[in-house]
Amino acid sequence: MIKIAPSVLSADFSRLEEQIKLVEEGGADYIHLDVMDGHFVPNITFGAPVIKMLRKVTQIPFDVHLMIENPDRYIKDFVDAGADIITVHEEASIHLHRTIQYIKSFGVKAGVALNPSTSIENIKYVIDEVDMVLIMTVNPGFGGQYFIEQMKEKIIDLKRLIDSKNLNIDIQVDGGIKLDNIKEIASYGANIFVAGSAIFNSSDITNVTRMFKNL
Ligand code: DX5
Ligand code: ZN
Repeated sequence: MIKIAPSVLSADFSRLEEQIKLVEEGGADYIHLDVMDGHFVPNITFGAPVIKMLRKVTQIPFDVHLMIENPDRYIKDFVDAGADIITVHEEASIHLHRTIQYIKSFGVKAGVALNPSTSIENIKYVIDEVDMVLIMTVNPGFGGQYFIEQMKEKIIDLKRLIDSKNLNIDIQVDGGIKLDNIKEIASYGANIFVAGSAIFNSSDITNVTRMFKNL
């Protein structure tokens, strides 16, 4: 079963409630919220206060992707804002094992994200602790980029590692996901698909979400 996580990064920020309702109607499984700090990535988006307000408008689980330095400092804010999954970048967390435990101590799910150049090896000793691994299939920071082909091999390697340890962990992919590549990527083992521009830049957001779900 594949799950769809529309990323509001490409949504109309002046009408976020309305846009979330449109993907909700299309059957979205999560709302993917990209938090960027202008340091870890060269772009700035929104933080916990915006997420807290959005929490009031929908019941869909919030999948919060933190592209920020020193994530530990803000994790409690995102928990209080209503995050259901909090994903931190391996590259941004000096004590990743501790950070994962910290996220889980609040009773929310913990994910770890890997930039395209980061090896699966880097999370080999913490993978038993996480609920989800996010393979970045573009360099983080912006919507509308192209899927990096080498990431297919990485998804296969990750799936192999997870299976070899008999773990039950979601593999999320984020960046350049479109209606025409999702099936192939799913065949490598990914099961949660983030889609920003493919959904929110379309003229019928609900219908495109539904098409993603029905693949
Ligand atoms: C990029 C973000 C993504 C972004 C994906 O750094 O993490 O979630 O919204 O956008 P698309 O689907 O347009 O590649
Ligand atoms: Zn993201």
